Amino acid sequence: ENSFTVAIDGPAAAGKGTIGRAVAAHFGFAHLDTGLLYRAVGRRVLAGEEAVAAARALEPSDMAEPEALRTAAIAGAASEVAVIPEVRAALVEFQRAFARRAGGAVLDGRDIGTVICPEAEVKLFVTASAEVRAERRCRELQAAGHATDLATVLDEVRARDARDAGRSTAPMRAAEDAVLLDTSEMSVEAAVAAAIGVVSAAR
Ligand code: C5P
Repeated sequence: ENSFTVAIDGPAAAGKGTIGRAVAAHFGFAHLDTGLLYRAVGRRVLAGEEAVAAARALEPSDMAEPEALRTAAIAGAASEVAVIPEVRAALVEFQRAFARRAGGAVLDGRDIGTVICPEAEVKLFVTASAEVRAERRCRELQAAGHATDLATVLDEVRARDARDAGRSTAPMRAAEDAVLLDTSEMSVEAAVAAAIGVVSAAR
């Protein structure tokens, strides 16, 4: 059976996850939030493991409770382990196998269209201004019961963006053939509809 891959990249809290989940549900594709892999490695490192060994030891159970991985501390640790080439290399095959699965797959992350799936049938680069993204992330964190404020989240978002875009291995950037989607002034519904339109046109 043929595979069909949708690659969604972009900075933190731009809407990749929401769009990825909605596109996957619409077309009946599987969805992988690849940030969870790096977060799971980050959590192991915070618990005392060495980063490369942690990446090689990763198991599905590490990603079993995604909500537990969505803290600011784990996000920071994730973006620190994500600069290590051996950590990234240890996660490549799992992601590529997921992308190749029959019936279609959506992967969201930072390097899906550029490194993991350069042959993806659809590539989207989802962005929004740092201020809008920080507001969204702040609301999510507060709704999940984490005590934080907008200035702190904006600082964290900017630090993570700089590390993700500035690293030498698989830096966050739009693939040349990616469709850019700036969600700063779009509702969730409008952003999802735009993404579904791009995928529909490619099928
Ligand atoms: O997407 P999310 O915010 O969960 O990702 C956490 C961190 O994992 C990112 O800041 C980035 O450093 C790293 N990451 C990556 N490549 C991916 C997905 C996430 O480097 N494909």
